[in-house]
Amino acid sequence: MTILVTGGAGFIGSNFIINWVSKYKEKIINLDNLNYASNKNNLSKLNKKNYKFIKGSINNKKLVRTILRTYKINKIINFAAETHVDRSIVDGSKFINTNINGTFNLLEESKNYYLSLKKANKLKFKFLHVSTDEVFGSLSKNSKPSIEDSVMKPNNPYSATKASSDHLVRAFYKTYGVPTIISNCSNNYGPYQFPEKLIPLVINNALMEKNLPIYGNGKQIRDWLYVEDHCKALVIILKNGKAGDKFNIGGNNEITNINLVKNICNILDNQFPRKKGKYKDLIKFVKDRPGHDTRYSLSTLKIMKQLKWKPKENIVTGLNKTVKWYLNNPNWLKNSNSKDLQKWMKIQYK
Ligand code: DAU
Repeated sequence: MTILVTGGAGFIGSNFIINWVSKYKEKIINLDNLNYASNKNNLSKLNKKNYKFIKGSINNKKLVRTILRTYKINKIINFAAETHVDRSIVDGSKFINTNINGTFNLLEESKNYYLSLKKANKLKFKFLHVSTDEVFGSLSKNSKPSIEDSVMKPNNPYSATKASSDHLVRAFYKTYGVPTIISNCSNNYGPYQFPEKLIPLVINNALMEKNLPIYGNGKQIRDWLYVEDHCKALVIILKNGKAGDKFNIGGNNEITNINLVKNICNILDNQFPRKKGKYKDLIKFVKDRPGHDTRYSLSTLKIMKQLKWKPKENIVTGLNKTVKWYLNNPNWLKNSNSKDLQKWMKIQYK
């Protein structure tokens, strides 16, 4: 088995590959265009025997075609995406290009390749598309969690592009029989997450004694999934999921943004006390995100029942591990504080 991982130098992709290479012998080809949030060094220590990096985009038809045929790929896992909601609000064009056009391109090439395979190889082929709970839109505090078949109601340009890509993936299964599977996950956190997202941003800012920005009243709710738990679920889906399947992957850890940030502050107070004062003194309420979704929540009954997966970490154990990882990897954080991040911070938090 050879797996094509797209976007494998990003946050979730890197964690997936590190986890895979340490446990399984099947080779991974990582196709990543190395955008601002990717980091090739995340994977620099991997055994080259079962891992190969190729710089390039899922929009490059010819490159995708060559990779599929040269490496006789029989599993594809598509992480490649523009993912930051706030950036999509400032300019959605890259999101259309990667998340919709790129996924379409990958599907087209996969379809042509799949149809050319002999029956035995067709049976081994799977295309797993990694998506998000945001496609289901915002829930009120008391409504039931979204299930796999809930109606899609995306509210921001990012989630609209992910919903579009989910539709395309489904259509390629229904129309051409490409054995696709879709997974929709909740908010991931853990090692290697670029510090534009809430958790690493708060840790990074706190360590630099900068303000910890909370949008609006901070009462929005997210469900937090430790990235390693997510990656384990993806491995199980890749191995045991059936063509046309769809699975929610959530952490069962719903919490308001303000309480989450207070928790991070408490953990930092324990693991790396400030010279003066407490980290929560750095919290600052700022202008709200336009169209800010109130709550995401996923029902994970299907994956728990059918594939026997459940998350191992809760928000306390997961956050403690995460804070520890960032404290132990100051150079990774330092390298992330690139020109791009500084420029983004000026645009977003002016
Ligand atoms: O739900 C899954 C999604 O989670 C993924 O599909 C997205 O790719 C990922 O970016 C994430 O989206 P969110 O918008 O929920 O994540 P973010 O870390 O940007 O924000 C989490 C919450 O914290 C959200 O309610 C907005 C709020 N927030 C965020 C930032 C960056 C703040 O209050 N202050 C901030 O500075």
